Amino acid sequence: MKIIAYGIRDDERPYVEEWSKDQNIEVKIVKDLLTDDTVDQAKGFDGAVVYQQKPYTASVLDRLAELGVKNLSLRNVGVDNVDADAVKRNDIKVTNVPAYSPAAIAEFTVTELMRLLRHTTQYENRQAKGDLKWAPDIATELNSLTVGVIATGRIGRAAIQIYRGFGAKIVAYDVFHNPELEKEGIYVDSLDELYKQADVISLHAPATKENMHMLNADAFNKMKDGVYILNPARGDLVDTDDLIKALDSGKVAGAALDVYENEVGIFNTDFGSFDAIPDDRLKNLMKRENVLVSPHIAFYTTTAVRNMVQFALNNNKQLIETGKADNVVAFN
Ligand code: COI
Repeated sequence: MKIIAYGIRDDERPYVEEWSKDQNIEVKIVKDLLTDDTVDQAKGFDGAVVYQQKPYTASVLDRLAELGVKNLSLRNVGVDNVDADAVKRNDIKVTNVPAYSPAAIAEFTVTELMRLLRHTTQYENRQAKGDLKWAPDIATELNSLTVGVIATGRIGRAAIQIYRGFGAKIVAYDVFHNPELEKEGIYVDSLDELYKQADVISLHAPATKENMHMLNADAFNKMKDGVYILNPARGDLVDTDDLIKALDSGKVAGAALDVYENEVGIFNTDFGSFDAIPDDRLKNLMKRENVLVSPHIAFYTTTAVRNMVQFALNNNKQLIETGKADNVVAFN
């Protein structure tokens, strides 16, 4: 059995090597992403393990199938960048890693909320200028707030557990109800109801065609004045222009954005200076003291990275050996 692993970063390499040694399976490490230029390197391999934010295009997937490589294992959870039609027409089996560390994302999300509530940016900026005064940034306590959790998959549920540790009240919305949470009666029947009740919106939904820009002007209008928005999920869920307007008007008191709708090619890149970042809207957000932008790092922990690599390799091995795997993605 031979597996090719594309887009392997330096922080992932030791985990690939460890797995390959433990399993006694050859894994070819390729630093480049899976693109038209690199796809032919997969010739002769039984499966490919991949992670990238750039699209897995129809032409790449067609070529992969032509080469007879039909076992594709993603090292991450989101599959919104995979061309579903090409997967289906080529009968490619795709796996993802649905739970590499829900806690990683949940812990980061709540950390960012605490930073917003405690106005840490404002204090840091003033302190850097020698101003050690308290006012005007008096804080709000999380235990006095209602957090509206949108989507109660593994990450949403991990976040709920942490919010509860702080004593916050939770309301949740999801099309699929988790039986345990259902018993606790935390679900509301509509997003409108969640918007009405929540002081904080914690977004944990995957991106689909249907929920593109679900947080737009209309949604913000239905929310409480001074609401906080947390998006560690997908940039497309939030209409950035509408968010900027809602921040300008004060409707939204603060936002923590670990994702951004145009992040591909921008996040995880060093531009050398703030001015050189090639996106004015992003810079507008980054300049605000009540907005925390981070470059899609909620997942970036040693636990998560190891799990992403090794669970994906396990999935690929399963696919190669049996044609089945625990985490096969069903594309509709
Ligand atoms: C995912 O797993 O889909 C993520 O969003 C994390 C990614 C940046 C590795």
